[in-house]
Amino acid sequence: MAFHRPQKVRMFHRLRTFLGSTLGKKVAMSITGLLLVLFLIAHLAGNLLFFKDQDRSAFDHYAQMLEENPLLPLAEIGLLVLFVVHLGLAFLTTRQNREARATRYRVSQALGKRTLGSSTMLITGILVLAFVVVHLLDFRFKERAPDGLGAMLERRLSEPIGAGIYLLGVIALGIHLSHAVRSALRTLGADHPRFNELLQRGALTLAGVLFLGFAAFPLVVVGSRLGSTLASSSADEGAPTTPADPGLAPLPVSADGQGH
Ligand code: HEM
Repeated sequence: MAFHRPQKVRMFHRLRTFLGSTLGKKVAMSITGLLLVLFLIAHLAGNLLFFKDQDRSAFDHYAQMLEENPLLPLAEIGLLVLFVVHLGLAFLTTRQNREARATRYRVSQALGKRTLGSSTMLITGILVLAFVVVHLLDFRFKERAPDGLGAMLERRLSEPIGAGIYLLGVIALGIHLSHAVRSALRTLGADHPRFNELLQRGALTLAGVLFLGFAAFPLVVVGSRLGSTLASSSADEGAPTTPADPGLAPLPVSADGQGH
């Protein structure tokens, strides 16, 4: 009597065989990578509210809305799974590629043009991972300051070390994405001589927009800090020691050190 495995078991078996193959791993890596890019687009769009007003109230309101959303824990678990699967497969395929090259064909990878992005995928991926760990410790796992998330963000990016970490993380992300988006689309079948130029440009533009958008946070915060320091030091130099006009007298300073 022939033994028929139930359809579900057969499907599971096929999926396991597919994921065991190099192509299967690359497809899964591409899908998880593109989903992470969707997260980055949403993350950047929401974060841009930081620049909407000086007191960061629009950003704080947005962060509070996110936190109160009952679906947030589910989204966070999904995000974690995407990260883990993407990273796990990246390490596995890198190891497999190295083994294959060492044992079978000792040829340099001459397939396609090597770019900064394509030749540093593992290292930029590790740098982005390190950045995400620091980033989560900064904002996700730190107690919320009473003056809000926007103020916390501004303080972190005002520190030279904080701004440096965020800039380096974003540069690594930009280099990673400059190769990753086009490569993932190609793996998923978006490869046609008529559209390849357009796809290449579109992928690079998306990577560039994400890079510039995220880089704007440390750059704008540091820039406005420098600007206000320069402005106050030049105002100090030009200011008379005793104000001749009472209208120009310095603002009274309260006990907490702030003007009114
Ligand atoms: C440089 C500009 C960035 C700023 C200003 C920023 C800001 C923030 C803030 C304020 C949070 C906390 C949100 C909350 O708890 O309500 C957060 C969470 C997060 N960020 Fe960013 N982020 C930036 C870049 C990035 C990048 C480049 C990545 C990934 C490569 C990233 C990944 C995440 C993740 C995974 C979370 C946790 C999401 C969650 O658990 O809800 N961020 N970000």
